[in-house]
Amino acid sequence: MAVGIFDSGLGGLTVLDAVSKALPDVPLIYLGDNAHAPYGVRDADDIYDLTTAGVQHLFDRGCDLVILACNTASAAALRRMQEGWVPEGKRVLGVFVPLIEALTERNWGDNSPPREVGVKEVALFATPATVSSRAFQRELAFRAIGVDVEAQPCGGVVDAIEDGDMILAEALVRSHVDALKRRMPEPQAAILGCTHYPLVEEVFRAALGDGVAVFSQPSLVAASLGDYLERRPEMLGSGEPAFLTTGDPKSVEAQATLFLRREIKFQAV
Ligand code: DGL
Repeated sequence: MAVGIFDSGLGGLTVLDAVSKALPDVPLIYLGDNAHAPYGVRDADDIYDLTTAGVQHLFDRGCDLVILACNTASAAALRRMQEGWVPEGKRVLGVFVPLIEALTERNWGDNSPPREVGVKEVALFATPATVSSRAFQRELAFRAIGVDVEAQPCGGVVDAIEDGDMILAEALVRSHVDALKRRMPEPQAAILGCTHYPLVEEVFRAALGDGVAVFSQPSLVAASLGDYLERRPEMLGSGEPAFLTTGDPKSVEAQATLFLRREIKFQAV
């Protein structure tokens, strides 16, 4: 019995960590496609092919439910997967919707028409592929009106985190926040729209300053998964918990252990 969590690399561990704290009895199989990270600079077909291959692997290991703990895959591939690829009896859920529900103060499954919400100016930080997909704006438009979204493609941040170069990652975050603030000086809220960014969340918060509400995915996704499993307990599937990577297990587990502050053992897929 296990739920699958998929990301292009290490970022999905931020979601895994929150899920394992919120739902300690839910076994998890994590798959990081580190050999092909970052996804954020790839085109949509490429992201689709890599994401379906990863998710198929998790289905083959017994998962019935896979969380795409990757905004880039959620933005570029999820709709296409749900429309024609996901087999009967399996589910793939993305990480956008819980975030947008929190931003627009909606409950799960509230399908009422879009309405005015408290926030008017929102800064979105995400990978270049997520920004260019405009998936965030599209999902937001189903739920809210009158919200101005300024998006900053944060080139280089995921590469630096995957390489373990946190000094570079932090410097890049500061410069991306500066660039966004030149276009939107006083956002009310900021969305960290990439699962790698919680690893540098404090740097985002400091650069954004007080008064900006920062929305970060891990705890929102964990709460929404808990809600989902309460309604659909049969989706727990089968399979043995594991940490898997398409990359080099030794170097991935060294980084993962550093980020999660507990020992993690990765296996090659
Ligand atoms: N962590 C992923 C995301 O949430 C992917 C980053 C990447 O591979 O570029 O977008």
